[in-house]
Amino acid sequence: MALHVEPDLDGAGPPPAIRAHGLVKSFGTLRAVDDVTFDLAPGRIYGLLGPNGSGKTTLIRLLTGLTVPTAGWAEVLGTRMPSRPNLGRIGYMTQTDGVYTALTVSENLHFFGAVYGVDGGEPVEHALGIVDLAGRRSSIVGTLSGGQRRRLSLACALIHRPPVLFLDEPTVGVDPLLRVQFWAHFRALTDAGTTIVVSSHVMDEADRCDELLFVRSGTIIARGTGQEIRVQAGTADLEQAFLRLGGNVEVTR
Ligand SMILES: Nc1ncnc2c1ncn2[C@@H]1O[C@H](COP(=O)(O)OP(=O)(O)O)[C@@H](O)[C@H]1O
Ligand SMILES: [Mg+2]
Repeated sequence: MALHVEPDLDGAGPPPAIRAHGLVKSFGTLRAVDDVTFDLAPGRIYGLLGPNGSGKTTLIRLLTGLTVPTAGWAEVLGTRMPSRPNLGRIGYMTQTDGVYTALTVSENLHFFGAVYGVDGGEPVEHALGIVDLAGRRSSIVGTLSGGQRRRLSLACALIHRPPVLFLDEPTVGVDPLLRVQFWAHFRALTDAGTTIVVSSHVMDEADRCDELLFVRSGTIIARGTGQEIRVQAGTADLEQAFLRLGGNVEVTR
């Protein structure tokens, strides 16, 4: 998979795949995203972890350019968002499945392929294989289980093999065996250079991420590997770490 980054001429490592600088999104008096700044290096899985309402979805929407910031900016692969052409390099699995319930599984994939200028056949088969839905290709989506719809949503987000992938709570409603398969696939994608941001409101999959960003009240209250965060918080339990770090400790990098 080709990763669209500049060559590493100065030995300083590749440029960030994703950048946020002073990002703010206000809804009336509520600052759903409140001054978020970070650089995310390519080829890694980043876990955006925080309780419901902490601003994860809004942050992802800012990074994908689907909502315009109140202040600050977001960049993906060196391009300021929002950028319609750049959407071709971004995959986004939304929290609520954005698939068409009156169409079949296969029709959905062909539709999303067409949106991204991908020619049906092989990409559709590849995506069906990843999420293990080949046997349901002719099923009307409205007849699928919640977990199957989640799988289809992932397949639609992957259809154009994007180098940057945003997954908003991808494993909610997905059974444990398939979760393991999802994560194995996420890892295979990052091994090939893809950058993945995956949000969750539970900590049970945090250790599958290369780096964690704890989100609380629209801000990043901690960032680091699971191990770094455990050391910093002085607890082996990430839930506890979240609570402890939520006080007034600020971590920047
Ligand atoms: N379009 C909107 N209008 C008003 N408030 C919103 C809107 N979208 C999100 N919010 C609010 O912003 C906060 C963060 O929401 P969200 O980003 O969905 O959090 P999370 O994904 O972490 O659950 C919540 O208080 C939510 O109610
Ligand atoms: Mg959300």
